[in-house]
Amino acid sequence: MNDNHGHMREGFTTTLGVLAATLGSAVGLGNIWKFPSMTGQNGGAAFVFVYLLCVLLIGLPVMISEFIIGRRAQANNVGAFRKLETAGRAPWHLTGVAGVAAAFLIMFFYTGVAGWVYAYAFKALTGAFSGVTAAETADIFSTYIGSAAGPLAWQWIVLVTVSAIIIAGVTKGIERMTKTLLPILFVLLLICNIRALTLPGAGAGVEYLFRPDFTKVTAPVVLAALGLAFFKLSVGMGTMTTYGSYIGRRENLPSNALKVAFADTLVSLLAGLAIFPAVFAFGFEPDAGPSLLFITIPAVFQTMPLGQLFLTMFFVLAAIAATGAMISLLEVPVAYLTEEHGWSRVKATLLSAAAMGTVGALATLSTSVLSETLVFGRTFFDLFDFLSSNIVLPVGGILICLFVGWKLGPKAIADEASNGGSIRNAAVLRVFTFVVRYVAPVAILLVLLNGLGVIKA
Ligand code: PHE
Repeated sequence: MNDNHGHMREGFTTTLGVLAATLGSAVGLGNIWKFPSMTGQNGGAAFVFVYLLCVLLIGLPVMISEFIIGRRAQANNVGAFRKLETAGRAPWHLTGVAGVAAAFLIMFFYTGVAGWVYAYAFKALTGAFSGVTAAETADIFSTYIGSAAGPLAWQWIVLVTVSAIIIAGVTKGIERMTKTLLPILFVLLLICNIRALTLPGAGAGVEYLFRPDFTKVTAPVVLAALGLAFFKLSVGMGTMTTYGSYIGRRENLPSNALKVAFADTLVSLLAGLAIFPAVFAFGFEPDAGPSLLFITIPAVFQTMPLGQLFLTMFFVLAAIAATGAMISLLEVPVAYLTEEHGWSRVKATLLSAAAMGTVGALATLSTSVLSETLVFGRTFFDLFDFLSSNIVLPVGGILICLFVGWKLGPKAIADEASNGGSIRNAAVLRVFTFVVRYVAPVAILLVLLNGLGVIKA
């Protein structure tokens, strides 16, 4: 199939390839870095519980909606809305434009953190952690992010790597990379779990993750959990719309979405089970925030035989997970620029990446020279993070649900999500339609307004 500019449209070639690419987008720093640090900052198990509800009631329906939009339109995130909004006067495609902007906003800080991960893989490999104590791992991290040159250089290395995969294309780049690497990540995470759970004093960490204290759930905490659900599942901005447009006509969209949501959540919980037992065993504080991963994981591996090897493997795999997610983020503007503006894939990739690196430097320097520079009371890093997860993705989520639920409507939903009636899932689709029409948009709006303090319930 050709797009507006006569480019051949590539796509994912197998059912497994679809699962790998979409799961490869979902699994990333969100699981290994954001989920544990936010759980720690928001009080543990009660946050996890609210997060799980958000994934099931909101994240999953939005993901199915994006798949429906993308596959039905066979176009990028802006083109898809344009094609489907036909004759309508409402400018729905602005939802798509906002999604492209969100991809930049996320990449501004994501590439910085991915740079830390790449740097840590390199440090581990070259033995920077051999023989250090648990306390020293904290110093190593604060010294590293307190410097400017290293983190900036690694951010660009990250961008070059991601660009190279994107330029290789959808099938040879995205599909092939994710299919080989995800299973390895899973196995490595299990090894970490075994090590962390057998440390003396590990039980306190497990309890922290699974025994809820609901007094800690406030409106901003619920909004944070919702924002994390959007960020985690890569929804609310058109990543899954873009990937949906690469999904073949015979694939089962709701079932793929369910598998992604389930596997992604499992990876987050496993990451939590690798980190919190160690946090408590070594006497660290669970609310350390973004540094949690970079301090506890080296500390954990120092205590085991072949620690350096495993530590290296862990950060290499975290780097791979981050890369899979970044590929999907960069693909959003690239698909848009090539299809809507006729740019070549190389030009679209390189210019987008350059913009991400340039503005992204502000986020990276937020832990060093710009640590005192605050915009709306936040560092650039925190601002990009807060705006994307807590505002842009939820608002995008509302619009995507409304578009699918009301503009496309039940008939198109039934047709697209059952592959023209060949999958017998009518009951599931009735529930889905009700959720995207009423439940999800209202719930997101209420959480958003409450979390921002606009209303008090
Ligand atoms: N889901 C990815 C992660 O958890 C981040 C992401 C967000 C990717 C939005 C694409 C779109 O790391």
